[in-house]
Amino acid sequence: MFENLKPQPADKILALMQMYRDDPRQEKVDLGVGVYKNAEGVTPVMRAVKAAEHRLWEQQTTKAYTGLAGDPAYADAMIELILGNAVEQDKIAAVATPGGTGAVRQAFELVRMANPAARVFVSDPTWPNHVSILKYLGIETVPYRYFDAETRAVDFDGMIEDLKGAKAGDIVLLHGCCHNPTGANLNQSQWQAVVELLNQGGLIPMIDIAYQGFGDGLEEDAAGVRMVASSVPECLIAASCSKNFGIYRERTGLLMAISQQGDAQALNQKTLAFLNRQNYSFPPDHGARVVTTILTDDALRADWKAELEDVRLAMLGLRQQLADELQRLTGSDRFGFIAQHRGMFSLLGTTPELVEQMRVDHGIYMVGDSRLNIAGLNAQSVPILAKAIVDAGV
Ligand code: LMR
Repeated sequence: MFENLKPQPADKILALMQMYRDDPRQEKVDLGVGVYKNAEGVTPVMRAVKAAEHRLWEQQTTKAYTGLAGDPAYADAMIELILGNAVEQDKIAAVATPGGTGAVRQAFELVRMANPAARVFVSDPTWPNHVSILKYLGIETVPYRYFDAETRAVDFDGMIEDLKGAKAGDIVLLHGCCHNPTGANLNQSQWQAVVELLNQGGLIPMIDIAYQGFGDGLEEDAAGVRMVASSVPECLIAASCSKNFGIYRERTGLLMAISQQGDAQALNQKTLAFLNRQNYSFPPDHGARVVTTILTDDALRADWKAELEDVRLAMLGLRQQLADELQRLTGSDRFGFIAQHRGMFSLLGTTPELVEQMRVDHGIYMVGDSRLNIAGLNAQSVPILAKAIVDAGV
């Protein structure tokens, strides 16, 4: 049987991670996978996470199964974090999932179950695993223009024009904030225009929010999601705690299915629980319980918010430092967009050949589409990167 297997395409982000590990050079710089590193190059366990784990270790009396949807207190805490009070609780079905990827996968499975004819419109570019999962599930994907190669900002006119090609019932995949891979984001009036287009076309938004708190702040980063969720008849939201709680390996995510129809919630909730049961039964609990402990305790929550804010400001500082250094080296402000982008990533907007050249000549590891993980930089590596960008003639 196994001889029938064919090699599957490698995930380019994970392949790069391995290449970096295998590179013996001391001065190599890892700007690949989206993981935050502090000034010492360490991905720390956040203080509030340590404290919550300590508390759990002392107080947890059982590891027996939770429900198929996970602990309801986790869903409640996350719904409040992401949506505030934008949507009434009885409109929301929610399940814990293994990470944001688990939520994305379950969301697409739900789409396929509910409407096998639906196509999913994805930004060009988007996180490669979105496209990979959709392909694996046999769901048709349609790219929509998103990134303006000249300005490195959102090509909003192109986006709207392409989304006008969607039919009622099609899904529009949106990044809640901190667009991955570009770092270019919609402003509030653009979100408003997207809402209008969704409602006019009968399109169903699915929002992937994996970086809340990494862009303009916890509340600010959720503003677009809240606007959409409170203004459309139906939507899906896939959320991740990997980055903003720094619990990458704990696989902590949440999927919400929101319907304004009075009686839809119960069936949506049962369907999401069913999908959990088919795929992995009970979702992982440890990370979810840590998050719940933090979000429901005033002191832990305040400390978590303070540390997250430090991370956000550190990334903004690195963006500015890199933009300034490139300005100094080139005498032009054509890299100013790096300081305008938000979140972990910026798309440099150059060719795979030049990305490869920077890897070979300078040990700079960025994804082939020229996505930089800003959070992988520090004060020492910024000038190295700036020099590599200029040397390569980007
Ligand atoms: C990334 O885009 O680098 C992260 O979301 C990690 C991943 O799983 O790809």
